[in-house]
Amino acid sequence: MLGPKKGKEPKIKLTKESYQKARGLFSYLKPYRVMFIIGWIFLVISSISMILFPYLMGQLIGSSGAKASSMEDSMSLLNVDNVNSVVMMLFLLFGIQSVFSYFRVVIFTNVTENTLRDIRKSAFERLIYMPMDFFNQNKVGELTSRISADISQVQETLRTTIAEFFRQVITIIGSIILLLFISWKLALIMVATVPVMAIIAVFFGRFIKKLSKQAQDFSAESNSIVEEALMGISNVKSFTNELFILGKYQKSIDEIRALNVKSGMWRGLFVSFIIFCMTGAIVFIVGQGVLMTQGANPELTVKEFSAFMLYTIMMVASVGSVPDLYAGIQKAIGASENIMKIIQQSSEKDLHLGSQKPTLSGKVHFENTCFSYPQRADIEVLKGITFTANSNETIALVGSSGAGKSTISSLLLNYYSVSEGAILFDDVNCKDIDTEYLRSHMAIVPQEVILFAGTIQDNIEFGRPGANAEDVELAAKQANALEFINSFPEGMKTQVGDRGIQLSGGQKQRIAIARAILKNPTILILDEATSALDSESERLVQDALDKLMIGRTSFVIAHRLSTIRKANKILVLNQGLIAESGTHEELIQLKGLYANLVELQGVESESIS
Ligand SMILES: Nc1ncnc2c1ncn2[C@@H]1O[C@H](COP(=O)(O)OP(=O)(O)O)[C@@H](O)[C@H]1O
Ligand SMILES: [Mg+2]
Repeated sequence: MLGPKKGKEPKIKLTKESYQKARGLFSYLKPYRVMFIIGWIFLVISSISMILFPYLMGQLIGSSGAKASSMEDSMSLLNVDNVNSVVMMLFLLFGIQSVFSYFRVVIFTNVTENTLRDIRKSAFERLIYMPMDFFNQNKVGELTSRISADISQVQETLRTTIAEFFRQVITIIGSIILLLFISWKLALIMVATVPVMAIIAVFFGRFIKKLSKQAQDFSAESNSIVEEALMGISNVKSFTNELFILGKYQKSIDEIRALNVKSGMWRGLFVSFIIFCMTGAIVFIVGQGVLMTQGANPELTVKEFSAFMLYTIMMVASVGSVPDLYAGIQKAIGASENIMKIIQQSSEKDLHLGSQKPTLSGKVHFENTCFSYPQRADIEVLKGITFTANSNETIALVGSSGAGKSTISSLLLNYYSVSEGAILFDDVNCKDIDTEYLRSHMAIVPQEVILFAGTIQDNIEFGRPGANAEDVELAAKQANALEFINSFPEGMKTQVGDRGIQLSGGQKQRIAIARAILKNPTILILDEATSALDSESERLVQDALDKLMIGRTSFVIAHRLSTIRKANKILVLNQGLIAESGTHEELIQLKGLYANLVELQGVESESIS
């Protein structure tokens, strides 16, 4: 969805659309355009003034041995006899250069950083409001690394590459004009040879770089063979697959060797090409130039010839750097296109247009609801579900794994739109309700609780940002969490998450419950909240959950019968349909699926309850 996968560098094809997309990104420059234009003025002035440099240097170098030919000097562009005044002018030139360059760098950096801050903000704002389906289709790790790579590509380009590119183009054009002016004959000879050589050298160099990149990829592959084998060493040994793995490794390192030998051969050719052709071309031109300065009526003065050589060097350096700069700009356009793809995607706000804010009492009605996940439209997960949950009731959802229980909780949260039928909250279709408003009345305690980097207090406060410390503590107490929290030396201020303390499953679960208590939702969803816990923590968590469920409509998805049997209504899901529904006693009487499940878990449920 977001362009090619990582790994193999994609060849960037620039189409009209990609330019249009990229242009969208440049609209972020608009607020800073005045500064940006000033930066460009500095850039143009400093680039043009740089073109004077070879001319003045030529005057300086040429004046050393050319005393005799003062006659011909009067014919040159600007007659500067005095060495001191030439030196002064050079100092002046570089003075202007350095001042302008300073402001150019500072201005471009400022514009870039401001623009990027805005782009980053927009991109994250988009991402966080993306519909759930977007996250099913894009791996989060890939997404974040792609975006940050794309953003730094744009950053580099805005800050330096574009400016550098135009500076070099100005230098090339200016140099060629002056070269033609000094001696069009010599200039034509030079333009026909040197830049051609320089461009061949650049592409040659890139080809070699590509070869060594390939070798690098292969070596990463061979490293992963080693890593996998050693990590899974007991697998390798128990299957006596050492020889098999060795064979795989051998093949991969043979390929690395072959590639590196091949690139070595090309590197050798490259070196001899440079030595022979490049220096050959230079010797040829110098020879031609020197011939022109000789004779009774020379076509060229020594000063002019010196300037000519300096212009040539400057131009070649510029020509050599242009392909890489251009490639950088191309990449940035590709990167902008990727970023714009995200920024221009429709977010949940564009998809869920409902704006009603009815009073929610917790009454929920599913009316013949059918649903398939957007990226697997062929598989119907729910095939017509109808049930009602009245205010403050507890509804238990049971059924084998994959029956669609979690899907129902996702639909309650309006993560997806139903394909047929409707879900009503207090008799209002959820399509017509403001999604944020709806979700603000719900809380979910999932099986796998994710804690954010921060303190325990921050993590509980996540349920209601801005809640005061007493409320947080009360919530923790009601969630049976205060005791273990206070057993840490830093209490509520204990760091959790990746870089903090590791909490047990039951402890995390109780923090999630405290979060939900703090949110005080009308509708509560417990999706297998206790199924990963040992029986000791389950007792504490269950006790906290029982308290949490009072006075709300609760949807309980659970494996354990002890949680289910107290529900006002039990829905047994089977193959996308409600196979049975009723109270525990009614369903036992029915002697159907539910009775079977109870029988299977019978022993366990007795021991728990
Ligand atoms: N994000 C998803 N995209 C596509 N299919 C999904 C997704 N989540 C679940 N499913 C499929 O929907 C069906 C019901 O899943 P789920 O509601 O998670 O089952 P349960 O919670 O009852 O175990 C399964 O067949 C599952 O493969
Ligand atoms: Mg599930």
